[in-house]
Amino acid sequence: MASGVGSSVLVTGANRGIGLELVTQLAESTNPPKLIFAGCREPERAKDLQELSQRHPQMVIIVPLDVSDAASVSAACQVVSTRLGDAGLNLLVNNAAVNRPIPGSLAQTGADDMMEVYRTNVVGPMLLTKELMPQLQRAAAQDSESGLSCRKAAIINISTLISSIEKCYESFGMAPMYPYRTSKVALNMLTRCLSEDLCKDGILVTAIHPGWVQTDMGGSQAPLPTKDSVRGMLGVMSSLTEQHRGTLLDWKGNSIPW
Ligand SMILES: NC(=O)c1ccc[n+]([C@@H]2O[C@H](COP(=O)([O-])OP(=O)(O)OC[C@H]3O[C@@H](n4cnc5c(N)ncnc54)[C@H](OP(=O)(O)O)[C@@H]3O)[C@@H](O)[C@H]2O)c1
Repeated sequence: MASGVGSSVLVTGANRGIGLELVTQLAESTNPPKLIFAGCREPERAKDLQELSQRHPQMVIIVPLDVSDAASVSAACQVVSTRLGDAGLNLLVNNAAVNRPIPGSLAQTGADDMMEVYRTNVVGPMLLTKELMPQLQRAAAQDSESGLSCRKAAIINISTLISSIEKCYESFGMAPMYPYRTSKVALNMLTRCLSEDLCKDGILVTAIHPGWVQTDMGGSQAPLPTKDSVRGMLGVMSSLTEQHRGTLLDWKGNSIPW
């Protein structure tokens, strides 16, 4: 499958789950990006990612990155910018996230849970976007294609169906998840604000729900294999246009109400 995205991509939380599969499918696609930056907070423990990087040493660059730590975000963005040189960054995928406590009832949830989840799931993507803005703007300016796309310059925020306020009643009883739900609602608003702000620079910003996926976070009951979710999301990413900016879509491209 052709990757359908631009020549440089940064994926956060790339050592396992959906992030690792994103980097794997991008690297092993028929028309892969030239550079895939795989952000992870403990590279020395990321054995699968290390193996992937060893198979594609010029393409898959492992970057130490803890998205909940502003200094780590700055250092990682410096590494990425230096490696990119004048080329610019085509795609940032804000994938790293935490979901705790489980199931996250009101009685179980404290201030520290709320703050930690918000810091990782919302502040991290905001800081990365801010730090990488010059690289995203550069990529957009260098592309003569009109309109918006993931080939040109884009930010994809990995959100979730359970961030939908309209659909909350459908899943709340099974999974209250106060910190996670509220953080992803904030991520959706960040997506919408950035899409308004950055369209003048030629940068697309969209949120995607990966489905209920067989990862550590999704758990053993999840119906969707990680490969299928990621294949679907990459297909959606490659087809995004201006009309999708500031929206929340699922891994098949269906629109999800806020
Ligand atoms: N799985 C699902 O069913 C599902 C459904 C809807 C949405 N999503 C979303 O999909 C995305 C990926 O989820 P997943 O299922 O792949 O989750 P996962 O298996 O739990 O993996 C989470 C990834 O995020 C990383 N991460 C967490 N905190 C981090 C931090 N502070 N800095 C850097 N990396 C950090 C983890 O790294 P460590 O190994 O270092 O912890 C790991 O690589 C998330 O945004 C999640 O909300 C998942």
